[in-house]
Amino acid sequence: MAKILALYGSPRRRGNTSLLLQKAVQGARDAGDEVDEVILRELKMSPCLEIYGCKETGRCVIQDDFQKLYDQILSCDGIMLASPIFFYAVSAHTKILMDRCQSLWVKRYWLEKGSHEKREPKRKALFISVGATKGKKLFDGVLLSIRYFLDAIDMELWQALLYRGLDFEGDILKHPEYLEEAYQAGIGISRAIKKT
Ligand SMILES: Cc1cc2nc3c(=O)[nH]c(=O)nc-3n(C[C@H](O)[C@H](O)[C@H](O)COP(=O)(O)O)c2cc1C
Repeated sequence: MAKILALYGSPRRRGNTSLLLQKAVQGARDAGDEVDEVILRELKMSPCLEIYGCKETGRCVIQDDFQKLYDQILSCDGIMLASPIFFYAVSAHTKILMDRCQSLWVKRYWLEKGSHEKREPKRKALFISVGATKGKKLFDGVLLSIRYFLDAIDMELWQALLYRGLDFEGDILKHPEYLEEAYQAGIGISRAIKKT
């Protein structure tokens, strides 16, 4: 049984990305995996203070809810991360988490002297995002930062589910086909992790 970490990045508890992620969680559980769910807005988590206390051990020195999350990120086999598009970026809650993972970047590239050359990470990630508009470049910014973030935590982007034209809470419910895709992605990532 694999262990997956599901990270809810929307400030809305029943927002569009949250409902999609819930479906993916259901899919992964139905496929036999253990899923820990973390709602980022419920955590007390400071932004990165850029003091590089992590240079000593690879662990962030700010004592808040990130400490537990750090252990969960290190010990899981995969993650499912959902964030709405806010100004062509991820939500602030998601960005705080990403920046705090600079400690893992430091661990990997400074302390363990990992190479910047591409290597195959075993751990896999599903990224889910939703924006209100329909522009072609709506997800370009987030995809770039999500890829670099995943590299820092030794994961690869297995699949991204990206939906345009959804703004108000519950808009996603008008698209059962998207919710079904998310459910199938939950099953899919579970299978992909077991193959590695
Ligand atoms: C602060 C803020 C910034 C936003 N910026 C964008 C944007 O740049 N592009 C866009 O298409 N939608 C933008 N939106 C709309 C959200 O992406 C949209 O409402 C989405 O469905 C929210 O997902 P959620 O319900 O999972 O939080 C923004 C919304 C907020 C509150």
